[in-house]
Formats: sequence, C-alpha cells, structure tokens
Amino acid sequence: MKGIILAGGLGSRLYPLTHATNKHLLPVFDRPMIYYPIQTLVNAGVTEVMVVTGGPHAGHFLGVLRNGTGVGLTHLEYAYQEAEGGIAQALALCEDFADGGSIAVILGDNTTDADIGPAAKSFEKGARLFLKPVPDPHRFGVPVFDSEKRIIKIEEKPKNPKSNYAVTGLYMYDNLVFDFINECKPSGRGELEITDVNNLYVQNGNLDYVELDGFWSDAGTFESLYRTNKFWAEKALAG
Ligand code: G1P
Repeated sequence: MKGIILAGGLGSRLYPLTHATNKHLLPVFDRPMIYYPIQTLVNAGVTEVMVVTGGPHAGHFLGVLRNGTGVGLTHLEYAYQEAEGGIAQALALCEDFADGGSIAVILGDNTTDADIGPAAKSFEKGARLFLKPVPDPHRFGVPVFDSEKRIIKIEEKPKNPKSNYAVTGLYMYDNLVFDFINECKPSGRGELEITDVNNLYVQNGNLDYVELDGFWSDAGTFESLYRTNKFWAEKALAG
C-alpha cells in the first residue's frame, strides 16, 4: 500500500499564520504538522508517499521534507494542485503514483495517535473509512447508519447530523477510486468532494469502516490547531 498526504489549500482560516507558510508546515509542538500524518503512515508500514500541495508556499515542503529519508520514508514524491478544487481533485493527481494498487490517504492537517497498521494490513478492496465520535459533527462528513450500523450514506457538513461520528480525514481505497472521482461533479462550494466519492463506494456496496482508537483532530482552525498542539505537547512532555 502506498500513502498520500493532501497538503494543499490556502489555509485561509489560519491567516495571518498561513501568510508565512503552508498550513501543514505550521508547528505542532516540536515539529511541523505534516510530520504527524507521515508518522502515522510509517508506523503502519507505508513508506512510499506522495504529498499533494499547492498555494503560494508549496516550495517550502522540499526544504523541510527533502527526499523523505529523514522522516522514515523510503520514497517521496510531490504533486502540485493548481487550484482549490477539493480533496477528490487533489487525489486524482496521484493516479500514476498509485500504479494500480491500494492507497492510504491522510489529510495533512489530521493528526492521530491511533495505529492504522492492522486496518492497512487487512485492507483488500473497496473503501475503508475511519470514524470518530465528536461533539461537533456538523463540521465534518457524517455517516448515516442503518439498524445494523452499516453506513448507508455520508452527509457532508449536515445541519442536522444523523449520528455523532465524524468521517475523519483518513481513508483507504482500491484503484477504483480514480474512476469514481471521474464520475463526480463539483459541489455547491465548487469542489470535488471526497464525500461524493465515498457515497459511490456505498452505492457499490464496497465501503466499510473502523473506529479510530485514541486521539484524533483536524487542525485547520485556531481552536483545533490549539487542541492539536496541546495534545501532542502534553503527550511528549509526559513521555
Ligand atoms: C474534509 C472532508 C470531511 C471530513 C474532514 C475531516 O472537510 O470534506 O468530510 O470530515 O475533511 O477533517 P474540510 O476539511 O474540507 O472542511
């Protein structure tokens, strides 16, 4: 399995911090944010990675990550997303890199101390999501379950969430993902939504999920960036 980290965007919710550098290079305690999703992949045995970036500070990644060996990667590639076209559009840039195989995708501002190794090792085909109960599901993709707790649909940022789970920004896909992305149309916010891709897997009967054990947060707002920093700082200082 290869890994993909999506690290584009302007990070406008974090201005003025993101006038200085890309959101995913901002500090989270003692290291740049993107080190954490990289570590999650490396811990799961995924060491061939593509970073998709964009925006005015895209070049900063080379200076920080270089060829990836310093952060445990055996192979590192970069792709550049020209416009703010959404997560699925960014993922589409990785089709050649995936080379017909399965991929683990992490949004570069999502950090977790969960071990996704077992989920990676047992993954065969379809799509696998990682869910986490949250107090504010309306900020995320939210799964709708049937009576047997199978996902029947995912709603993106619903006003009235049908469960208290967030679809976190960690995903595993087989190579069909690139066909499904091609079927998607831009959403109301003008983006190719990863939630639409996941719903195509649901319709295909090929989507499962695991609950993430441990800490998980995004870090795209001041509040969530603070929460993320606090968690990792306290964990490191306690250890
Ligand atoms: C994106 C996805 C959403 C997911 C979230 C996780 O939201 O669209 O489904 O729950 O990442 O961080 P965005 O960061 O675009 O608001």
